[in-house]
Amino acid sequence: MKIEVKLKDKSYFVHIDELEKIELDTKVVVVTNPTVSAFHLDTLLSKIDALECHVVTVPDGEKYKNFETINQILDECFLHRLDRKSVLIALGGGVIGDMTGFTASIYQRGIEFIQIPTTLLSAVDASVGGKTGINNKYGKNLVGSFWQPSAVYCETAFLKTLPKREFSAGMAEMIKMAVTFDRSFFEWLENNSLHVEANLQYALRECIKIKADVVSQDEREQGVRAVLNYGHTFAHVIENETKYSKYLHGEAVAIGIVMANELAFELGLLSLEDKKRVNLLLKKYDLPVEYKINNIEKFYDAFFLDKKSFNHKIKFILAKGIGGYIMKDDIEKSLIFKVLGNFS
Ligand code: NAD
Ligand code: GLY
Repeated sequence: MKIEVKLKDKSYFVHIDELEKIELDTKVVVVTNPTVSAFHLDTLLSKIDALECHVVTVPDGEKYKNFETINQILDECFLHRLDRKSVLIALGGGVIGDMTGFTASIYQRGIEFIQIPTTLLSAVDASVGGKTGINNKYGKNLVGSFWQPSAVYCETAFLKTLPKREFSAGMAEMIKMAVTFDRSFFEWLENNSLHVEANLQYALRECIKIKADVVSQDEREQGVRAVLNYGHTFAHVIENETKYSKYLHGEAVAIGIVMANELAFELGLLSLEDKKRVNLLLKKYDLPVEYKINNIEKFYDAFFLDKKSFNHKIKFILAKGIGGYIMKDDIEKSLIFKVLGNFS
């Protein structure tokens, strides 16, 4: 099964099935980390048929998503004299994918790269759509580029070694897409378990279809793509407050979804019943739904660091019923404070 991401300049396919062969008459550098490489590198290498194939193993973790690691990957490219037809292959989660994409976008002004996501989060979200980037002392993903992969290979066998907590974190991004774009998929998620292989395949397809469709409509996030940030306005503040150490990104997104829904409920956009259903689905995958805000003023101020905030207005992505969304940047400060107060 393959899903096309249709773009004006460069369309590509996301393949969701067993990876057969990647054939390239060019030099290739595979970028991975020690955790993923221990499980899956040999399998991948056995499927790559290229002019030359090299591997660079970078340290594992969000804290290494920085210029130092980009330089490590670039060094490997220069060392093996990659040319402008060469290809980078990202084997890993969102961290590896974002760094490989960013390196591909700057090496000799841009070469191709392929995404092979190994986390659920990267399979359904990060690997598709061409957002690449790294962190610096000013914040997360503040340096980067839009640089689309030439293909994405989503091999469910690679997801089998994921720790349970990482799997759940990916579920938060799936639930995010179901709540905002697809009510029937939300109902399907309520009634089925993703721990069944065929169900996982189905859910991956549904999410990747949503993501591909959104990116095809709005590659550079001028409109609908911002909806993929549902829950994230709150999540980014939570991640920052807890110094990126207490919650995985998907866990913070789960709490952010709960907070955004509280706001939607206050605005009459989401019923009490639908709000409870979303909470229940998050809990079904052991995602956190509670958070204690210690300083509401400080929490509120941190919203203005969000990339969606313009001219001192915060843009909230809210659910409009289950399966719908609305973007709002005119919500009264008093109402936002009331909602934040429910978590204090
Ligand atoms: P990650 O890449 O850090 O992976 C999580 C952990 O799981 C890591 O320790 C990793 O080594 C390990 N791992 C990966 N695959 C494994 C496997 N198959 N078996 C066992 N362990 C495995 O985290 P993530 O959640 O995949 O991605 C988060 C990153 O993605 C963040 O940096 C975020 O900014 C970025 N992101 C990007 C986009 C985008 O559109 N580009 C979207 C969402 C998130
Ligand atoms: N993960 C959000 C986006 O790709 O736009």
